[in-house]
Amino acid sequence: MSIKKVVVTYDFSDEPYREFMKRSDNSGLDFVHYDNIGANHYDQMLFSQLALNRIQVISISYNAGDTIDNKLLEISTELESADLIFHDSPRVAYNVEDEAIREGLQKSVETLVQSRFLDKSSFLKRDSSFASKEEAKKIIEATDIPMPKSWSVDEYFTSERTLPVILKANWSSCGKGIFYFDRPEQMDIFWDMDLYQDVGVWTLSKPKKENYLVQDFIETPSNHFTHYRVFATGDGNILGAVLSVSGNRKDQMEVDSRPGPYMGGNIYNCVDSPTYLGCKKVISNHAQGGSQIAFDANGKSKPLTDNDREVLIAHGYAPEDITLNPRLKQLANGVAKLFSQHGIVYAGQDWMQDKNGNFYFIELNEVPGMEIFNTLYNKDQGDDKTAMEIGTRKLAEALANYQK
Ligand SMILES: Nc1ncnc2c1ncn2[C@@H]1O[C@H](COP(=O)(O)OP(=O)(O)O)[C@@H](O)[C@H]1O
Ligand SMILES: [Mg+2]
Repeated sequence: MSIKKVVVTYDFSDEPYREFMKRSDNSGLDFVHYDNIGANHYDQMLFSQLALNRIQVISISYNAGDTIDNKLLEISTELESADLIFHDSPRVAYNVEDEAIREGLQKSVETLVQSRFLDKSSFLKRDSSFASKEEAKKIIEATDIPMPKSWSVDEYFTSERTLPVILKANWSSCGKGIFYFDRPEQMDIFWDMDLYQDVGVWTLSKPKKENYLVQDFIETPSNHFTHYRVFATGDGNILGAVLSVSGNRKDQMEVDSRPGPYMGGNIYNCVDSPTYLGCKKVISNHAQGGSQIAFDANGKSKPLTDNDREVLIAHGYAPEDITLNPRLKQLANGVAKLFSQHGIVYAGQDWMQDKNGNFYFIELNEVPGMEIFNTLYNKDQGDDKTAMEIGTRKLAEALANYQK
């Protein structure tokens, strides 16, 4: 079945948003707590691409006079007839001035989509999500999809405390809350609350155990840290995949350290901080430097460097035939379908390969970066804008043929 009608539960045009910004005094704006214009811009590209694929896109807007009951009635009729729904809670009715009505609408539309239409929705809530590291772990653990062995912080402390491990913040993105521990004292220091002292007017903020996860460190092949990013829609269609390769090399590892003041800065990297950990940097996020290797490479993909070839061979590929490992394809297909039941119509999946050729699911990004599309289809040229243009075009084509 192909997709004919998409309903967006919020208004993604710029004008009402600008008007609303002019009117408001910027206080109480925390319900639009991210760059709405940027998000609108992305939606405008994606949804106009959908329209080019002959899909009807209906965006719900809200007016001052709307009552919750009337609006809900109208919306539920639209949602029932939709093939796909895009929902983003804080963007619903953002311009309705009456706070009670606005919040009521946001909550009730969210509840409506979540309770009745989740399996055909792209569902963003932003205060919590099925794609968060914690929720995704629960969903994955109920299946036979392989994940690295994981512990809660308390579980880890009462276990054999194997090393090395990754300590990972639930809120982490772009590799910013990821720590590599290969010495027991690092874990002790991190969780020794007495070390989080007052420094002048600052208090080093204490981490909360429930926000962290401990994970077996996966040793990847090659002299770089690597992970796969697989971009897939909820019907299991893989739009593109890359191997993300760290800029740094394993045989030239440096301890992450900075001298100087640590107030307001990174209290774990700064050698003068009581919580200095002396961690090594082991991440392969594109946002932290490094490069990408295109899979199922085509004439428009990034050309391979000698180093890319070395990395590919170490991962078991023949460099003249760069098609994604079939086992990983199959696993990624399963994860995409699994999460389509939980409000994920498309996502960037992170996977790792160990030295024995086993694959492990790492995380799901429901607002995935688009840079892989420059790697795959633009010879690694261009900027954020070209990546977004190519990505939204490919995504719209895939959604037009979405198999529910
Ligand atoms: N269990 C692990 N073993 C080895 N490296 C890991 C592990 N988990 C994460 N990493 C590294 O850290 C990076 C970021 O981790 P990830 O869970 O994807 O969080 P983020 O949301 O910050 O991207 C990964 O891309 C990978 O390079
Ligand atoms: Mg990641």
